[in-house]
Amino acid sequence: MIENHEYRQRRRLLMERMAPGSLALLPAAPERVRSRDIHHAYRQDSDFYYLTGFTEAGALLALVPGREKGETVLFCQPRDPKKEQWEGVLLGPEAAAAALGVDEAHPITEIDERMPGLIEGRERIHYRMGADAGFDEKVMGWACGAREKARLGGPAPKQFLLLDELLHEMRLIKSDSEIHLMEEAVRISVEGHRRIMRYCRPGMREYELEAELLHSFLRHGSRAAAYGSIIGAGANACILHYDSNQAEIADGDLVLVDAGCEYRHYAADITRTFPANGRFSAEQREIYRIVLRAHAGAVAAVSPGAPWDAAQEASVKAIVDGLLDLGLLTGSADKVMEEETYKDFYMHRVGHWLGIDVHDVGSYRNGENWRLFAPGMVTTIEPGIYISPGNENVDPRWRGIGVRIEDDVLVTGTGNRILSDGLPREPEEIEALMAA
Ligand code: GLY
Ligand code: MN
Ligand code: MN
Repeated sequence: MIENHEYRQRRRLLMERMAPGSLALLPAAPERVRSRDIHHAYRQDSDFYYLTGFTEAGALLALVPGREKGETVLFCQPRDPKKEQWEGVLLGPEAAAAALGVDEAHPITEIDERMPGLIEGRERIHYRMGADAGFDEKVMGWACGAREKARLGGPAPKQFLLLDELLHEMRLIKSDSEIHLMEEAVRISVEGHRRIMRYCRPGMREYELEAELLHSFLRHGSRAAAYGSIIGAGANACILHYDSNQAEIADGDLVLVDAGCEYRHYAADITRTFPANGRFSAEQREIYRIVLRAHAGAVAAVSPGAPWDAAQEASVKAIVDGLLDLGLLTGSADKVMEEETYKDFYMHRVGHWLGIDVHDVGSYRNGENWRLFAPGMVTTIEPGIYISPGNENVDPRWRGIGVRIEDDVLVTGTGNRILSDGLPREPEEIEALMAA
């Protein structure tokens, strides 16, 4: 649970960092049609949510630092008994100020009329340009209106600035209450993974595992998976974003499950790869062990002050060494690195920031340099080896093996903590869980 004072503090901090003489406009996510009268399940915009905790559509937050009448102004849907009869209770502007701790709240229907007053005297508007053509047009209209009014004197908007860098730097460092929610998202997801490892049998369809996962997520209070669950059996494990999940799981297959729930808007992102019949084959175990070493090396590289790329390098090194040992790569390690031939087997990065978005915001570089890890950052670590079934450069016994191991790692003051450590990762632990 994140309290109002934390949202207030975030808005205050952001306003302190905004350009002088500016205001910021953050719209709620639009509703999107899934099929005719039916909408996709509504998901609030992550930036808007981070600053308000408000989950309704049809809203906009204006941050107007230094405005005497109030610096934080929310527009939201007015109460409407008829609409509420169909779609559920709305907060309404009358209750919103107190409920969300903003200075003022108004009906969204009054936004065109009120916006010139908020923009008046401001030279810069922070908003996410180019994300939504309809909203671009609205902001342009408000800005032009304000310029017209200011022709007789006084400042008027002449610059549009992205808010992303300021806001996303804040989102990159998780507070204690955010970490608590992420721990819960991870705990629920781990429970789901454990459930399907025990449940899996050759002859099932991939979607049967997906059903068990979702069952587990929902019954523990998650409302959705954080992203389309990837359940890839056999060679399907080699398709990085496989999510059709229709195939039959054969005896002797490895099953790669990349799935995490969203809990109160925070994501977990976890992958395990396990043998459908409960026992790794010799080849599967060899590949698995390499990925496990890459995972351990990368996790060890996640500590405050270390550059982001150290984790990447550690994972590449372990995978290159391992594949050379098995003869799946040939030549010297230096040459493999230089020519990047390992990318036939390991073609993605070792991880990404995790938070309100699965691929969370925050840069990976500061100019030329890799960003340094700092306490409160959460990254995934997810090395993998994928041997394409069509790879004729390797002995057929290796073909179609795909392994990824993904955990969610919090940077602490002294090193890191694997939030998803409760899920077995060692092959023998996985076999024991599946046999239980
Ligand atoms: N599930 C998407 C990812 O691992 O990045
Ligand atoms: Mn994943
Ligand atoms: Mn991931």
